Amino acid sequence: MLKDVIDPDLLNRFEAGLDPRNPHLSAISARIIGYGEMSTIFVIDHPGQAHIAYKRMPIFRTDAEMDAYERLFEAYNTGLGRVGLQVPEWASARVVPKRGNRIVYTAQARLPSSSIGNALLHTLAEGSIGLLFGCVLRELAKVFASHRVHPSLIFGIDGQISNWALKHGRADGPVTEASELWYLDTGTPLIRRDGVEQLDPELFLRCTPSFLVWLIRLLFLEDVMTRYYDFRKVTIDLIANVYKEQRPELIPLLLATANRFFAGEGADFGIAPLAAEEVSAYYRQDAMIWRVYLAFRKIDRFLHRHVLREPYVYILPAAIRR
Ligand SMILES: Nc1ncnc2c1ncn2[C@@H]1O[C@H](COP(=O)(O)OP(=O)(O)OP(=O)(O)O)[C@@H](O)[C@H]1O
Ligand SMILES: [Mg+2]
Repeated sequence: MLKDVIDPDLLNRFEAGLDPRNPHLSAISARIIGYGEMSTIFVIDHPGQAHIAYKRMPIFRTDAEMDAYERLFEAYNTGLGRVGLQVPEWASARVVPKRGNRIVYTAQARLPSSSIGNALLHTLAEGSIGLLFGCVLRELAKVFASHRVHPSLIFGIDGQISNWALKHGRADGPVTEASELWYLDTGTPLIRRDGVEQLDPELFLRCTPSFLVWLIRLLFLEDVMTRYYDFRKVTIDLIANVYKEQRPELIPLLLATANRFFAGEGADFGIAPLAAEEVSAYYRQDAMIWRVYLAFRKIDRFLHRHVLREPYVYILPAAIRR
């Protein structure tokens, strides 16, 4: 069990010696294996750790906040499992440093990097990419179908291609309609109980520079938190993703696959056909949001280090190519 191999003592020592700017130069070294919009995924270079993918969230101020987050993380992983998704084995652990924010580390069984969706976009033939995309739509459909069956407890989901991995099979395929997928991105547990969002969005504003919080709140917190509960928006987001993955030529194929899905086996969802212009307009706006966000976080880091002379506690991604 993953829970049994997470070593709290190692995490404490890792945290104490962490260099967030250069994780590989930390006292206990870490190797980054993936970037998301908000966080970084890494492996700790230490015996017995190579099969664990960690995400570090240094955003908590109280034990109660950590309790609430860890409960949601568990409810999200088990809930997605109940609606029929497959999530890799998971666990979480906490570190409470002498000063500064408390930290939750979420851990997941590490999957081969060649099996992850964004890598597959570059290794699979087009036919297989279309099939892979169809498999993702069918997984998403399980989540959105459950909204109708259990409206009092619903899950949001971020369908981006980098959040899925092919369970069996090789980097070059073959992919079939029956290929099984893992869903990876359970660190933002979006759950609505009786219509009320359970995840406190303010938590995620904590890693936002204070001079930008008002702007983020105004511009997109509402949008980002609600889009993941809407099948049509999640699908547009997923298709627009291929711009960021440098494969925009795939858009016609993906649009056709999605529109066929929503006219056929997904007809129950009553989703109007998607158009190419919607996808490109959406991408321009979304890319702008995240580019601005990351740029301001880098300014904030600069201010901390050179002006305020305070430690900067977050690990930031290098520039994301778009
Ligand atoms: N279990 C895992 N095994 C191998 N690689 C992983 C694993 N989990 C995540 N990764 C890599 O890290 C990337 C980002 O992970 P994930 O989607 O969970 O976080 P995220 O996008 O940062 O989340 P958010 O945007 O919500 O902050 C993945 O696309 C993948 O490349
Ligand atoms: Mg992700």
